[in-house]
Amino acid sequence: MSTNLFSRNGVAYLAPMAGVSDKVFRGICVKMGCALTYTEMISAKGLYYKSGLTHKLLEISPIEEPAAVQIFGSEPEIIAYAIKNICEDLSTQLAIIDINMGCPAPKIVKNGDGSALMKDVPLAAKIIEAAVKASSVPVTVKFRKGWDENSVNALQFAQMAQESGAAAVAVHGRTRDQFYSGKADWDIIAEVKSKINIPVIGNGDIFDAYTAKNMLEYTKCDAVMVGRGAQGNPFIFREINALLSAEQVELPDVKERIDTALFHAKELCECMGEKYAIVYMRKHIAWYTKGIEGAAKLRALINTANSLSELNKILSTLI
Ligand SMILES: Cc1cc2nc3c(=O)[nH]c(=O)nc-3n(C[C@H](O)[C@H](O)[C@H](O)COP(=O)(O)O)c2cc1C
Repeated sequence: MSTNLFSRNGVAYLAPMAGVSDKVFRGICVKMGCALTYTEMISAKGLYYKSGLTHKLLEISPIEEPAAVQIFGSEPEIIAYAIKNICEDLSTQLAIIDINMGCPAPKIVKNGDGSALMKDVPLAAKIIEAAVKASSVPVTVKFRKGWDENSVNALQFAQMAQESGAAAVAVHGRTRDQFYSGKADWDIIAEVKSKINIPVIGNGDIFDAYTAKNMLEYTKCDAVMVGRGAQGNPFIFREINALLSAEQVELPDVKERIDTALFHAKELCECMGEKYAIVYMRKHIAWYTKGIEGAAKLRALINTANSLSELNKILSTLI
């Protein structure tokens, strides 16, 4: 439990999740013991063309410093430009720059970005080399098992990343074709770990402290990255740390879950504005309250709430 690859002590990281891992949520995860948070993927092109909305995604809250910024793109010069600027702007707030080479979304891969780069290893190498040259912090790469079952190349890809100067790799054990379905292949993570020298961050299907421990033991990876298992459940980091330290695993009670959901909503209202934050929070509230007695019946009410005080009133009835 003393591993400290890039940030605070600990081996459990929060995965980058577009539309989910906002800075308030990331801060809550850190309070719960998360060792490293990632921004959601940020378009290098958007930064290059100075899009205000894209730039906003770079905000890092003091509690999560230093954090990882994840970018995506497929033009080495634009990636290098974006990284230089991020390093200058964020300075000591930045732990690492991570390059997304795993996103399966059609709108991303059709531009040759995300997991499309797994089909163009030479271009991926050029991107990593340009990124490393431009960056003042370590550069890491997140990718998948391969494009599809007929073109599994995570090992070759990891070796390429290492040779190109990456400081670590994060491997999601699914192919692009699988999107998020099926089971993540932990054997591929173990294979990558056994054959490269830079740290490997294992990712896929960690839904509680026990699966995190299992992945660490099974794959021998250096750290684990939790995605969907942290949705509405930032407590997972406290649980993972407790289990790995052989301490009692403390599960949150209903009050802690509701209080955390309301804290998340309140803080977001402050940084995004109440109108937008309340709508954005609907999915988070559904996750925070999943399985709580009476919550399903309140869902329609929650989804029509327009203010923080309304949300407060509705959620308080669950405690
Ligand atoms: C809603 C959502 C958004 C995601 N956005 C990103 C992203 O911005 N960058 C990225 O590298 N992966 C993204 N992912 C993939 C996750 O980081 C992770 O690799 C994947 O969910 C598998 O981990 P899990 O089984 O713990 O969820 C996203 C996943 C989800 C569910």
